[in-house]
Amino acid sequence: MIMQSSAPAKIILCGEHAVVYDSPAIAIPVSELKTIAKLEEADDHFKIILENTQETLTESDRHPFIYLVQEMYNSSRLPKIQISVVSTIPISSGLGSGASVASAIALLLGQVLCFDYAQINEFVFHAEKHFHGQPSGIDNTVIVYQKPVYFRRNQPMTFIEAHTTLHFLIADTGTPAPTKQAVALVRSLYEADRVGVPQILARITDLVERARIQISDGNLSELGEILTENHGQLQQLSLSTPLLDQLVNVSLEHGALGAKLSGGGMGGNMIALVQPQEIESVRKAMLDAGAKNVYHTKLEGRINDYAH
Ligand code: PMV
Repeated sequence: MIMQSSAPAKIILCGEHAVVYDSPAIAIPVSELKTIAKLEEADDHFKIILENTQETLTESDRHPFIYLVQEMYNSSRLPKIQISVVSTIPISSGLGSGASVASAIALLLGQVLCFDYAQINEFVFHAEKHFHGQPSGIDNTVIVYQKPVYFRRNQPMTFIEAHTTLHFLIADTGTPAPTKQAVALVRSLYEADRVGVPQILARITDLVERARIQISDGNLSELGEILTENHGQLQQLSLSTPLLDQLVNVSLEHGALGAKLSGGGMGGNMIALVQPQEIESVRKAMLDAGAKNVYHTKLEGRINDYAH
């Protein structure tokens, strides 16, 4: 018996941080980067082999992936199976590497144990809590369902569809995104200024609502402006860094329609909305400005704009 599953990376388009305060956010799967999990019978005992780090986890390990599997089997005694995991997603860069590995494992066992997507998503959310404390749930949702999502905590999620294909470049600063620290920073700003910070969060909410409409209507230049404005709000929350600002600025100077930091901030990555003809010049400008890696991803639209 060999079974296989795959789970993509993810990127937050807009609304990060505000989503922690029950505002909406939009995230998209990044299918160019992914995790593959394979299930085989094992000779001796249960194991998860993390091929990237050459780690082997067994049922006695206190590890979020082991807790995830034990929760799915509803038992601490696990069957004699081997799950091998390999991922192309860089670790700690805000692309959801941990959530993607957990999702690939959960999607694989979901086939064996007959869980539906909602149940699998819940299991992965619990695993995320072991990693991140109090995540909003946006990462596991976009990765498990592998669809762009308009997400609001404790509310039914909504999938979104783009009118025309959107192209994004994601630039990695090479500095790990300390998401927990960034969330704590915003919390302390919020506690210290119960008027100003909620106003910033309300403006982000407004931008996310407008972004949702522009994605669906295919107004790329308006969407770009919204993303850049969202970067301004995140700057006000002290989440940007000189390199993130520099990457946003050079992207805009080289023709990107909009750009912003993405995810926790204070490192990690940024995203730029680009037109196909600008991809190479913006990518080069990002690398020249100090990006460690640049990834191109697409959000496929309803309209086939490649019919030429
Ligand atoms: O750093 P990332 O890409 O995992 O994103 C974190 C997003 C936050 O809104 C800052 C936190 C959360 O749990 O939603």
